[in-house]
Amino acid sequence: MIIAIDGPAGSGKSSVAKAVALTLGFHYLDTGAMYRAVAAKAMAHGIALDDGVALREFSKSRRIRFAYEEGEVLPSRVFFGDEDMTDYIRTPEVDKAVSPVAGCIELRGDMLMKQRMLGSKGNYVVEGRDIGTVVFPNAALKIFLTACVEERARRRSLQNETRGLPSDFDTILQSLKDRDDYDMNRDVAPLTRAEDAIELDTTNMTEEEVVRTIADMAKDVRDKVCGADGGANDDNLLGIPEELQDLSCYEDARS
Ligand code: CDP
Repeated sequence: MIIAIDGPAGSGKSSVAKAVALTLGFHYLDTGAMYRAVAAKAMAHGIALDDGVALREFSKSRRIRFAYEEGEVLPSRVFFGDEDMTDYIRTPEVDKAVSPVAGCIELRGDMLMKQRMLGSKGNYVVEGRDIGTVVFPNAALKIFLTACVEERARRRSLQNETRGLPSDFDTILQSLKDRDDYDMNRDVAPLTRAEDAIELDTTNMTEEEVVRTIADMAKDVRDKVCGADGGANDDNLLGIPEELQDLSCYEDARS
């Protein structure tokens, strides 16, 4: 069973998706981290951030791999090839670079297949921008998380402060507005709410409230649709072509 969580930058998707996955004992996939890893490395290699063909070839040339810290239940580290990109992909530099990279249709096709392949391996909470609309249109539960942009900037600023990253509120506010604008207006897989997604405005909710709300909905769906074991996975099997069933370019550290 797939739980798709989409929404704009800073809406709390990552922390909420992780907590929901922990509550339900699901796997967790951060699709934004995949685009960020490609954008970060492409910059370092001097690849034009809007050259979809070059980006696709580049992303195919190395594995994107999620890895676990000792004792962790969910993966928290992202590798591109042999390089641990975890900290660098959250910097303002990569914030800026990722939107044009994620707007390239050639790269998205490749990422889409990798994401579907992973999701077909079990129960997943998957977060991103196009999970309920494009990647897993048959997801058992779709959530569209929002919050007013000022609140999102406030949260991101606090988060950056704890991570030792630049945390000026006005700069972050502008960067979120720019990224939302780009993500919502791009031609390919724009950020939009799936018709059957449940919209949750979290502006005045605590993280615990959001997590509990989604986990309760997910438990209902799991019991109704999949039976108590939640094992049904029909929503993930989306006709993946055989040649793309080779997972060598994308490896879940647990498999
Ligand atoms: O954490 P935050 O919401 O700031 O961003 P993210 O989820 O890490 O995603 C970074 C960027 O990747 C977004 O601004 C999108 O441009 C892109 N993205 C996407 O296009 N499709 C996805 N499924 C996930 C991310």
